[in-house]
Amino acid sequence: MASIHVTRRLTDAAHARLAELDHEVTGGTLDEPPDRATLLDAVQGAAAIVSTVTERIDAEVLAAAGRGLQVVANVAVGLDNVDLEAARAAGVTVTNTPDVLTDATADVAFGLIIDACRRLSEGDRFLRAGTPWIWGPRFFLGRPVAGSTLGIVGYGRIGQAVARRARGFDMEILATGGRYLAQHGDADGVATVELDELLDRADVVSLHCPLTDATRGLIGVDELERMKATAVLVNTARGPVVDEDALVQALRNGSIAAAGLDVYRDEPALHPGLTYLDNVVLAPHVGSADVPTRDAMGVLAVDNVAAVLAGEPPLTPVR
Ligand code: DGY
Repeated sequence: MASIHVTRRLTDAAHARLAELDHEVTGGTLDEPPDRATLLDAVQGAAAIVSTVTERIDAEVLAAAGRGLQVVANVAVGLDNVDLEAARAAGVTVTNTPDVLTDATADVAFGLIIDACRRLSEGDRFLRAGTPWIWGPRFFLGRPVAGSTLGIVGYGRIGQAVARRARGFDMEILATGGRYLAQHGDADGVATVELDELLDRADVVSLHCPLTDATRGLIGVDELERMKATAVLVNTARGPVVDEDALVQALRNGSIAAAGLDVYRDEPALHPGLTYLDNVVLAPHVGSADVPTRDAMGVLAVDNVAAVLAGEPPLTPVR
């Protein structure tokens, strides 16, 4: 019997799957992230850690767990909270939860696209504030979604799922990067372009790249200046992909029209400038937050742990 440490309380489905395993389970009770000292203490002796995006799993945590640690199963597709180098050096397998959250995240990205373009949340705030209003030909005009040009930065699974939704809206689709595009070229009716061309041409820029050293600050002052003054930026990837100071400035001075954000640089803290702007829609990192998706993510993470502890290959190892 091995020990599995679960850093946060998961959904019931994930805990039910954990209970089926013939292993000791610790943790799994916290609705808030553990503080660092609690985490370092709690992982001691664990053969497996089930972590979430709110815990930094680095060399110190791996060392605190000890030499018996075999696997870190992150309940997320993003892995920027896990030091993969340190895990490799320690001989610890790392897994994530791809595929099961693709549609949920693409739904939120597309929701933010429509909301930011058509000013729905802004209208909601306007009405709740009791502002007098009457329908008018020039009242609350937004930007069209159908028929406009979408630029997808990072054409992985979620980028492709956003493209599928965009086809239903007759959007022209441009995309950068991604192994899929390199293999399939323009097969999906998606034009492969460099980032500069995408920023020049897109009416909506939607970010779907992982956070890496190469993508940190990818959208900064220059990139925002390149975008059309009527363009909308949507980020459901990771906050630090965007320079938030530059974004606040661009939204304030009208160098882009609007933004829709699900992720933030200093999450859960918001850049103070964002909260005062009417032309940005703010969501609290809910890309994967629907019930079946969160169940599937938790169960997949537990299944990865079960496989590794049984000496079998995990279902979704990080390569
Ligand atoms: C992910 O899977 O990376 C999400 O951001 C967590 O919801």
